[in-house]
Amino acid sequence: MLKRKDLLGLKDVTREEIEEILSTAEQMRKILDQNVKKTPHLQGKNVTTLFYENSTRTRTSFESAAKIMGANAINISASASSVSKGETLIDTGKNLDALLTDVIIIRHPMSGAPHLLAKNVRASVINAGDGLNEHPTQALLDIYTMKEKFGTLDGLKVVIAGDIKHSRVARSNIWGLRKLGASVTVCAPKTLLPACMEEMDVAVSCRLDECIRDANVVMGLRMQLERQQAGLFPSIAEYNAYYGLTAARLNLADSDAIVMHPGPVNRGVELTSEVADGEQSYILRQVTNGLAVRMALLFLLTRSKA
Ligand code: CP
Repeated sequence: MLKRKDLLGLKDVTREEIEEILSTAEQMRKILDQNVKKTPHLQGKNVTTLFYENSTRTRTSFESAAKIMGANAINISASASSVSKGETLIDTGKNLDALLTDVIIIRHPMSGAPHLLAKNVRASVINAGDGLNEHPTQALLDIYTMKEKFGTLDGLKVVIAGDIKHSRVARSNIWGLRKLGASVTVCAPKTLLPACMEEMDVAVSCRLDECIRDANVVMGLRMQLERQQAGLFPSIAEYNAYYGLTAARLNLADSDAIVMHPGPVNRGVELTSEVADGEQSYILRQVTNGLAVRMALLFLLTRSKA
């Protein structure tokens, strides 16, 4: 039984804990499939999203998950809070504790910010993306989607292509996928591949046309133009020519392969619209599964504190 107070990353989570989250998410997905939009799982709980960076999917799905399960859901944007007057993260957290918050979901540009917050508050903390470090709930929903499609992660060949250097999604996926027995290849230009990749027990490639062969899952990553230093790749057009996922490239993968992307998609950069909207695309399925995974996580974390 999941007994932790916080969910800060998949690096320190066990295979058994991941499996419990996935099986609980399966139950939540069944509830959603019955078009049930009110459950009592979080009745009387206060859930706060505290986002220091923009978000569409993560924040909305956490808020929806909390509301579906009967919690009081509150959103705080850093730009509209006393953070803009100089309040520290710890003071903000202590004030949320004082307001009887049960769960704080935080996104922050600094790696480690959720860990700092978790050490200083009574509330459970969920990392919704910290700097270049981790985005564990995105990886959990990605893994859930792969398991839903293929039944098991054992032996699955997953290619993660794109801006690996700046991707917290890639890091969390690698930790989770390796624990569940999938093989992972990361593919990018050398300048977008961080040095630590070999230590993470993944294959590394600079040639998408080669490593995509027989892949079961091809995950494109957003080119994070806002985090780029100059000169990491010559131009968007050249990047797209070598690393863009086109229908022709996708034909090299397994015939039953699926295409995934955490969003937001830069159409024409990492994926063509034909691929993003095609039959093999699971991008919107990921989003709905994200709701089920976040419902599961909110339930498990608050239950373990009861
Ligand atoms: N995948 C993801 O984190 O999307 P948002 O930035 O919209 O939350």
